Amino acid sequence: MKDFSGRVAVVTGAGSGMGRAFAQRFAEEGMRIVAADVQVDALDRAVAELTADGHQVIGVRTDVSDPDSVRDLADQAVAAYGKVHVICNNAGVEGYLDGPIWEATDRDWNWTVGVNFWSVVYGVRTFLPLILSHGEPGHVVNTASMTAVTRPANMYGITKHAVMALTETLYADLRARGVPVGATALCPGIIATNLFLGSRNRPAQLRNETETPGAVAGREKRDLMHARLAEGMSPAQVAEQLVAAIRADRLYALTDHDWDDRVSERFGNILGGVNPIIDGLPQSQAGNGNGSATGDESSSGNESASGDESSSGDGSSTGNGKAS
Ligand SMILES: NC(=O)c1ccc[n+]([C@@H]2O[C@H](COP(=O)([O-])OP(=O)(O)OC[C@H]3O[C@@H](n4cnc5c(N)ncnc54)[C@H](O)[C@@H]3O)[C@@H](O)[C@H]2O)c1
Repeated sequence: MKDFSGRVAVVTGAGSGMGRAFAQRFAEEGMRIVAADVQVDALDRAVAELTADGHQVIGVRTDVSDPDSVRDLADQAVAAYGKVHVICNNAGVEGYLDGPIWEATDRDWNWTVGVNFWSVVYGVRTFLPLILSHGEPGHVVNTASMTAVTRPANMYGITKHAVMALTETLYADLRARGVPVGATALCPGIIATNLFLGSRNRPAQLRNETETPGAVAGREKRDLMHARLAEGMSPAQVAEQLVAAIRADRLYALTDHDWDDRVSERFGNILGGVNPIIDGLPQSQAGNGNGSATGDESSSGNESASGDESSSGDGSSTGNGKAS
């Protein structure tokens, strides 16, 4: 999609962080905006600010993990503007960070996977038919993460790998049909947002009934990572990059190359049959680079990225001193 002016963009998670910046940037391109968020005060503020700047915007309170709510979002977008051209499936949460993956409860999984992955399924399923229906150029943006292309180390990373896989699949399906609709998997690195305050919007029915053993450690990780993100790239810079990625019809949109080593390392390990080095811990036997890692023997008991900050946050390994 080259021309933005007059077209309609739906942005989820528009009350804060990157979604707020995308709504702003798209509006500055002359787009009409449908801002969606589950947090009503933040959503109202975003809509009021954009309106005050003279932009055309409506706000729709939406829970992206609920298919009916996403359906309602689409209905309201069409009622307001008649068409949708761009859907940014952007809302997300840091999710479960409270211990090893086997200790996560159903509620931890349902919250994290619901907001980070099912939301994208619902967004694609609901908005693609609308975008295709008018025959005009359009675009789907799914906010993945740099953790989608590096070795995942927590539930967040699992969901972002799934978002990447879905977007690559979507891209191929769109190309095969020759329609003027693109797809981008946006992979931000460290961006100064409220991501690690995500629990603020965790619904009561998906909170654990009693505090789990890892809850305190989880809160500490969130605080640490929130402080790290504050040093990151601005959401406005990401929005600038996103507009360029849509114009260029880029599937993969990485915000920076600070993570290249980790990307290469992961694929090198996979191709070489080499076990990953888990922050500072001795490499397991199969991690000797001889390509012989097969079956269960390859995973030693050392590889539980869980107990330390290596599994924290948006990123994975922090052993190299980079915020992640
Ligand atoms: N900040 C980073 O460093 C970083 C890096 C990589 C990827 N991301 C991804 O960027 C996206 C945007 O997050 P952000 O960093 O701007 O964080 P943010 O917390 O500032 O914004 C996320 C927004 O999503 C909303 N939200 C949460 N649950 C929702 C739900 N169920 N339904 C609707 N809205 C909901 C929140 O209210 C918030 O406004 C997320 O998908 C996140 O995973 C962030």
